[in-house]
Amino acid sequence: MPHIVPITVGAAAGGLLYREHRIRANAERLSAATFETLLNAIDANDAVTGAHVRRVASYALVLGEAAGLDEKMLRSIERVALFHDVGKLHEALTDIFHDPAKLTPEERRAVRTHPLRGAEVLAPLSIFYPDLGKGVAAHHERWDGTGYPRGLKGKRIPLTARVVAIADSFDAITHRRRYSSARSFSEAVKAIAEGRGTQFDPELADLFLTPPMLAKIDKEMRRANSPQKKRQNRRQGANRPVPDITFRWRQRANGPRSRDRLP
Ligand SMILES: [Fe+2]
Repeated sequence: MPHIVPITVGAAAGGLLYREHRIRANAERLSAATFETLLNAIDANDAVTGAHVRRVASYALVLGEAAGLDEKMLRSIERVALFHDVGKLHEALTDIFHDPAKLTPEERRAVRTHPLRGAEVLAPLSIFYPDLGKGVAAHHERWDGTGYPRGLKGKRIPLTARVVAIADSFDAITHRRRYSSARSFSEAVKAIAEGRGTQFDPELADLFLTPPMLAKIDKEMRRANSPQKKRQNRRQGANRPVPDITFRWRQRANGPRSRDRLP
């Protein structure tokens, strides 16, 4: 009889711990599913932006890892990179972004609202991810304070946004846009070097420009543009790019396999 009480208490404590673990695991899965759903919505609306944000996320993670940032910050950077352009899907902007004509000054002003529109879209998540909306809102700020929407300067710009700004610019230069054809890797490197201390955080720009970093970015870029990747894209329909980013906190066993996806 004297052993019954401790065993019962121990079993109850174990049960509680297990239950807590299950609740946390389910919350993490729900959060990952929420982000993946939002990413699917971006793909469905604009596959070019979907592919762009994945490349930006992959470059931003390479830079963040090289800067020695911890896992929590890397996840934060990954989320900001993946959703930095979600504001472009706003109905007030989507026609402007898809219109091949040159932007009027009024349209240019409208385009500059996309960081704040993106932060508004993500606002319901701010209670769980306070850095997300702030990073998205700040991804067009510049180190010298001449960016938008708030003209933040230097380290007042969230770190997530400073990392994403470099990755975003690099991808914008190396991939074809509405008015400009894709420029070479070395031209993109030159542009990052020229923006050091004006557009970009100088320390992060210096790190980005080191030979080992450039080799990693080159590898990521080749991976994103590989024929194998393009074949996969064709198999899933031209407008459905294969995700480059695997949500690292997601248990793959619970997600749909690629062959289960709709064409
Ligand atoms: Fe943007």
